[in-house]
Amino acid sequence: MLNFSFYNPTKIHFGEDQIQLIASEIPTDATVLMIYGGGSIKHNGVYDQVVNALAGHTWFEFSGIEPNPKYDTLMKAQDIIQQQGVDYLLAVGGGSVVDGAKFIAAAALYEGEDPWDILAKQHPVKQALPIGAVLTLPATGSESNGNSVVTRDGNKLPFSSPLVCPQFAVLDPKVTLSLSDRQISNGVVDAFVHTIEQYLTYSVNAKVQDRFAEGLLQTLIEEGPKALQPATKEDLAIRANIMWSATLALNGLIGAGVPQDWSTHMIGHELTGRFGIDHARTLSIVLPAVMKVKRNEKREKLLQFAERVWHLNEGNEELKIDKAIELTEAFFQNMNVPTRLTEVDITKDDIDGIVEKLEQHGMTQLGENKDITLEVSRTILEQAL
Ligand code: NZQ
Ligand code: ZN
Repeated sequence: MLNFSFYNPTKIHFGEDQIQLIASEIPTDATVLMIYGGGSIKHNGVYDQVVNALAGHTWFEFSGIEPNPKYDTLMKAQDIIQQQGVDYLLAVGGGSVVDGAKFIAAAALYEGEDPWDILAKQHPVKQALPIGAVLTLPATGSESNGNSVVTRDGNKLPFSSPLVCPQFAVLDPKVTLSLSDRQISNGVVDAFVHTIEQYLTYSVNAKVQDRFAEGLLQTLIEEGPKALQPATKEDLAIRANIMWSATLALNGLIGAGVPQDWSTHMIGHELTGRFGIDHARTLSIVLPAVMKVKRNEKREKLLQFAERVWHLNEGNEELKIDKAIELTEAFFQNMNVPTRLTEVDITKDDIDGIVEKLEQHGMTQLGENKDITLEVSRTILEQAL
């Protein structure tokens, strides 16, 4: 196992009707800015629950954060923060809203000239407003980590700081019942790929992390399809298992002390930035190709994945690996997400442009071995056609 320091400061309130607890989590003398997206929270009762919980606080609201939050939209929140003396942010929504709130929190107290430098030049965040989160879409783990991804002019860039990790997060599986099938699928697949990015590398004999990861993968494989089937889609126990899996997939726990890959995500970000494809749908396209192209380097873990997650105990090692990759693709197809670039109308002719963007963004040494050069990314993209 590699050395690590693990600290996760987010207090989780999990379960039905927990939204009311935000009243006691946010200091009563705080001036709160409730931040949300395109309005789904107004249709599923979440907005009303939050408003009721904030009855004893001074609060304002800022809405309109779009999926894959845009820098220009987020910067508009700075006016209300300055004018009203906002000193606490409450993000109510999916990963885009929580990520957006993180950037708003960092930009509000940024002392440099241009907050875009936090993303473009990776300027360190030295201070940020405190954040609480009410999660409405289990997927990203953003409710309990310090990561954020922001888009500007087709450039989708991440930043990370422990200072923007939410202080608390409310996870009520009931609020996920209003999700569309597309968003349910996206969430399950995103959480699955987060787990894989921290698991499918090379072995460092980290037994606990491996078994946690395998448990999350198996849970998502079992429960994901049920959340789409008419007979079981309203089942709150299924939603609860998916929601908690998604948080644990990216709250630092399974990634502590193990090598991490993240090439699927970095290549995927270019597909969203340039073509607007949903985050998870870029991952379901890129991951099988990464598995195929990096098969030799990932061999030991691919075999472990085959045997422990897919219970493939028959046949020789090559066959087991082939079958594990096949079953992963079949799982994605079962979740109704694409597994090929051509399914989202991206062709061979687009690959040059994607590789150029990777270069522009410094994504030239990806993967756990830093050996996914631009040429290897090109091979991965060709494999994904
Ligand atoms: O905007 P509203 O109206 O709320 O609608 C949203 C949005 O249209 C809707 N939605 C959310 N909860 C709902 C709901 N609709 C009905 N009922 C509910 N309960 O779903 C749509 C998509 O929301 P979004 O927040 O964009 O989805 P997701 O949670 O998948 O977040 C994706 C973003 O997170 C980033 C992605 O890159 C992308 O920008 N990521 C963040 C990470 C992190 N912070 O650690 C890691 C991830 O790998 C990812 O990169
Ligand atoms: Zn993701």
